[in-house]
Amino acid sequence: MKILVIGSGGREHTLCWKTAQSPLVEEVFCAPGNGGIAENATCVDISVGDFESLIRFAKDNRIDLSIVGPEAPLADGIVDAFSQEGLAIFGPDQKAARLEGSKAFAKEAMKEFNIPSAAFEIFNDPEKAKKFIADCPFPVVVKADGLAAGKGVIVTQSKQDAIDAIDSIMVQKAFGDAGARVVIEERLVGEEVSFIAICDGEHLVPLASSQDHKPAFDNDQGPNTGGMGAYSPAPVLDEQRYQEVLDSILYPLVGGLRQKGIIYRGVLYAGLMITDAGPKVLEFNVRMGDPETQPLLMRLKSDIVPVLLKVARGESIKDIVLEWEEGPSVCVVMASGGYPGSYEKGKPIDGISSAEGTGGVKVFHAGTKLDGSSLVSAGGRVLGVTALGVDLPHTIQKAYDAVSLISFEGVHYRKDIGQKALERLT
Ligand code: AMP
Ligand code: GLY
Repeated sequence: MKILVIGSGGREHTLCWKTAQSPLVEEVFCAPGNGGIAENATCVDISVGDFESLIRFAKDNRIDLSIVGPEAPLADGIVDAFSQEGLAIFGPDQKAARLEGSKAFAKEAMKEFNIPSAAFEIFNDPEKAKKFIADCPFPVVVKADGLAAGKGVIVTQSKQDAIDAIDSIMVQKAFGDAGARVVIEERLVGEEVSFIAICDGEHLVPLASSQDHKPAFDNDQGPNTGGMGAYSPAPVLDEQRYQEVLDSILYPLVGGLRQKGIIYRGVLYAGLMITDAGPKVLEFNVRMGDPETQPLLMRLKSDIVPVLLKVARGESIKDIVLEWEEGPSVCVVMASGGYPGSYEKGKPIDGISSAEGTGGVKVFHAGTKLDGSSLVSAGGRVLGVTALGVDLPHTIQKAYDAVSLISFEGVHYRKDIGQKALERLT
């Protein structure tokens, strides 16, 4: 069969790499892809928002399954558009994708289905929002309702911070229409973990646990990024909590949505805070995490294509069990200096083949492109250097040994990926 992966980041490179290994697959295409994806797939120069061209490409090339990486085309209804043309596509439809596309929708759903999450209020009026903040007894997080490329969440330290956040989101419209409405919620304290599952509308096939590292600098300092590294499994989620997340969060959500006529088919990603009172939901995403996908698929022994295909065809995944490598996987993101602020592009990248030659290491590309025959940086997050090993200390070491062989001007990466897990294990 032929596969089309839609997107251009590290997550999409990993999906191309994994699906290309399936015995069911003869060819993988990626639109638009990046400088490294060309190793595993044929890159097609169509942007993720150009549904018409993507559909034409899928028809002309007899694509059997399309897999959507990022959230924006899902929120814009790419799955509905493909389905109307009779094309098999993996991902939630537009109604279901509101779970990520509107934080207010997600919070109302959690309240309705009794899913543990932070206390919240929703506001359309900045003055009412500020009044609520002035009277609020607890520290808050201010969130733009709509999609804001991961930047619409402001974790505030003081009432003034929170009021400034309202001004920036609702008055100055820093995120455009995405900030016409805000969610103000209680700031939760604990350790974060990502819980990602595949859903057929009724049943869930959970992936292994994983943990992202969102802030730009070591010890979780600095501004939030798309993610500076990830590892799997995440020991903060022991077996009991893993089951609790399925029973008290994911199944109630999927069942509740189903009763409202929303059949959730695709990846369901719960961003969780493990608080003293148990796991609580920070957000839902409707696609795989980036960079969590890199260590997760590195550890996945099973073929991923059959489960994705079943979901795309509307079949049950009740009997599917995925098998995982026992050992951990660690991904260190190498970013452009200055990211998540402004940064320079076009820096030549060296050392990837030496890094991959160290064994048990795969370098997934995010912001890279080919400039003639040489590879250059082309985005904020450039590479995800991912190692698979037998135990955590050695796997972290393996990932960083590989990182040390790669260079480009201005490179920045965190030196403490995996440390939280290491502390829990020692
Ligand atoms: P979100 O996009 O909603 O996941 O928010 C981005 C990041 O903001 C999360 O990964 C958390 O680090 C932080 N965050 C979001 N909501 C809360 C909350 N209620 N309490 C504490 N931190 C939060
Ligand atoms: N790694 C965070 C995300 O994919 O949203």
